[in-house]
Amino acid sequence: MYAQMVKSEATNDDPEKLAAFQARIDANEKIEPKDWMPEGYRKTLIRQIGQHAHSEIVGQLPEGNWITRAPTLERKAILLAKVQDEAGHGLYLYCAAETLGISRDEMTEMLLSGKMKYSSIFNYPTLNWADIGAVGWLVDGAAIMNQVPLQRTSFGPYSRAMIRICKEESFHQRQGYDIMMKMARGSPEQKEMAQDALNRFWYPSLMMFGPSDKDSVHSAQSMAWKIKINTNDELRQKFVDQTVPQAEYLGLTIPDPDLKWNEEKGGYDFSEPDWSEFYDVLKGNGPCNRDRIEARQEAWEKGRWFRDALVAHAEKRAARRVAAE
Ligand code: 3HC
Repeated sequence: MYAQMVKSEATNDDPEKLAAFQARIDANEKIEPKDWMPEGYRKTLIRQIGQHAHSEIVGQLPEGNWITRAPTLERKAILLAKVQDEAGHGLYLYCAAETLGISRDEMTEMLLSGKMKYSSIFNYPTLNWADIGAVGWLVDGAAIMNQVPLQRTSFGPYSRAMIRICKEESFHQRQGYDIMMKMARGSPEQKEMAQDALNRFWYPSLMMFGPSDKDSVHSAQSMAWKIKINTNDELRQKFVDQTVPQAEYLGLTIPDPDLKWNEEKGGYDFSEPDWSEFYDVLKGNGPCNRDRIEARQEAWEKGRWFRDALVAHAEKRAARRVAAE
């Protein structure tokens, strides 16, 4: 289905249609699934939305590990609610991608075969409870920075999904920061755990915004089509400028000796992440890549009977409806 869709689009990219399409984008109109769109626009959206959806689902794994080990019933309930939210975010995004002619099964098979990515950050382990605070504070904080502008993305279903998702993200970030506040104000050992979590999650969180603009493969075209509203570096800078004062409030130190306020720029100068590590993790060599894919593969296999039963039930109901007409 998806393959045919893309082929048919490839023959329609005539200059007039492209010009009319670009005029709609430039006028900030929303593009809807049934509207004509260039094949490249459809493919980029499927790529980005599919990876975004996978990130939401795979992102449940590092936190899900700690639901049974949460220190209090209240923390368990909060974390449970957050992990459930992420499943819903994945659902909205898979539905948005399906309007472009790809099925969830195809996207999942592409994830499991490595043809579709998920955010690199989820290939790092959550070793203790402070990590759960750092994930909420930094990872969801970075996700908010990246997702808020996406509410204005040109593709209607993606924009509407983002509006719904962003309403929940601030709770995700706040609950993480609240854990970090408790730990940073706790015993010296707890404060040390919070600092260690910040040390380990700081640079992987900066990597969430993608490679630097000079190395970004898709940014120029994605911004011309207003799929992407800001560049990777712009959002990374905003994240750093917002997060440094939060770390100071906690009494924690950002693990970057070159971090310095630049009055002229009106923002912090900071060290870039180790991009060789970034690309190594993308190649599958991160600490948890294999575990994450194995977990998704197992869930996919074990859930097959349930998906088949749902499809069989739907087909039976459709057949009964036809028979009754
Ligand atoms: N992890 C994995 N792959 C990444 C990446 C990351 N952090 N950053 C970039 N990449 C990949 C891109 O997908 C692309 O590879 P591809 O061609 O195989 O898809 C390549 O690196 C080059 O990067 P580009 O900058 O050219 O790619 P994009 O223009 O797509 O920009 C992006 C990358 C900023 C992540 C963009 O895709 C985006 O904004 N995606 C939507 C938001 C998203 O996915 N956020 C991730 C986290 S969601 C989350 O954290 C959920 C929260 O609730 C916990």
